[in-house]
Amino acid sequence: MEINVAKLLVGNWKMNGVSTALGEASLIAAAAKSAQSQAIQLAICPPATLLARLSETTAGTGLLTGAQDCHPKAFGAHTGDISAAMVKDAGGHFVIVGHSERRADHGESSALVQSKAQAALEAGLVPIICVGETGAERKAGQAESIVLAQVQGSIPETFSDGALVIAYEPVWAIGTGLVPSAGDVLAMHEAIHRSLVDRFGAKGASIQLLYGGSVNGQNARDLLHLAHVDGALVGGASLTADGFLKILHAIQE
Ligand code: PGA
Repeated sequence: MEINVAKLLVGNWKMNGVSTALGEASLIAAAAKSAQSQAIQLAICPPATLLARLSETTAGTGLLTGAQDCHPKAFGAHTGDISAAMVKDAGGHFVIVGHSERRADHGESSALVQSKAQAALEAGLVPIICVGETGAERKAGQAESIVLAQVQGSIPETFSDGALVIAYEPVWAIGTGLVPSAGDVLAMHEAIHRSLVDRFGAKGASIQLLYGGSVNGQNARDLLHLAHVDGALVGGASLTADGFLKILHAIQE
């Protein structure tokens, strides 16, 4: 599934939201069509329990939906897991894989993330592959090598069809209110872009690169106008329509 927009804003609700949160999604959906007319695509990745309902509630509005994880296998005896085909069946367009919270909480390796991304592509979903260094790794001067190794290891070897998205999310910037300098974001996105072009040629150049980590209505404009920053993966500020739409309005100005 191709996505071809100037900016992609994806809300990652993490483990937040019960039925009452559908109202926030409807308010966000009401802005999705006008955003599309400016080549800005909005999406929400709610908890799995809300995905089908959120997809139904917002169908036809232009808001896309997605899941926060999937299993590498299509089906089988994997209690508690959800396959990419199930995400697709629930109306999802995207699936986030390899978020740093999953890499940390569930010990997910880049090899596992790669197999999840492969499963997503096979199911016709767009995987959003997350990468990012810890604060200690940045202090040690290893940010770029860590991130490029995650990019290298997490993208399916055979990637040639469909679309995928990379989200650069420094672990130390997630949920902390801390944001890297514009220069550091620019340098990392350029490095990721170069590595993708080296590996996949023109197809690599088409991979959209999101920034994530404490994005809000105040900092979105500066971050999202940087070269090779094609959008944002937004946690906390996406939980309310007000917070998410402030980001949209900041980049529409
Ligand atoms: P945050 O989360 O915007 O709350 O920092 C971003 C993310 O983890 O995707």
